[in-house]
Amino acid sequence: MAIERTLSIIKPDATARNLTGKINAKFEEAGLRIVAQKRILLTVGQAGTFYAVHKERPFFGELTEFMASGPVVVQVLEGEGAIMKNREVMGATNPADAAPGTIRAEFAQSVGENSVHGSDSPEAAAEEIAYFFSGLELVG
Ligand code: CMP
Repeated sequence: MAIERTLSIIKPDATARNLTGKINAKFEEAGLRIVAQKRILLTVGQAGTFYAVHKERPFFGELTEFMASGPVVVQVLEGEGAIMKNREVMGATNPADAAPGTIRAEFAQSVGENSVHGSDSPEAAAEEIAYFFSGLELVG
C-alpha cells in the first residue's frame, strides 16, 4: 500500500480536556507519523470554509461555532494507507457507534463534540492539508 498523508484535527472538546497527548499516542501506536502539527484558534468563518461541503446541513452553524469555541490542533499524519488507517483509529463519527479502543469510543462526548476530524479521501486530504499547511511546513 502507498504512503499517504492525511489531515487530522484534534477538536476543542479534546484540547479542553488536555487529551492531545493521549490522542497522539493512538496515532503513533497505529504506525501513523505526525509530520506536521500546530495549535490554532479558528474563527467561525475559517471553520466554515474548511467545512464548506457541509454548509447546507442543519448542523452547520453548530459545527462551525463549536470548531471556533477553543483551540484545535491541526496535524498531518503520514503512513501506509494513512487516510483509511486514521479513520479506523478515530472510529465512527457518532461515538455511540465507534468500535472499542478507537479515539471516539474512548474520548468523544457526542456526534458534534467527537474529539477528532480526519480526511475521508485522497482528494479531501490534499485540499485539507493545503488549507492549513504550506509545503515548507511539511518536512516528513
Ligand atoms: P467530522 O469528521 O469533523 O466531519 C463533519 C462533522 O460534522 C462531524 O465530524 C461531526 O462532528 C459533525 N456532525 C455530523 N453530524 C452531526 C450532527 N447530527 N450534529 C452535530 N454535528 C454533526
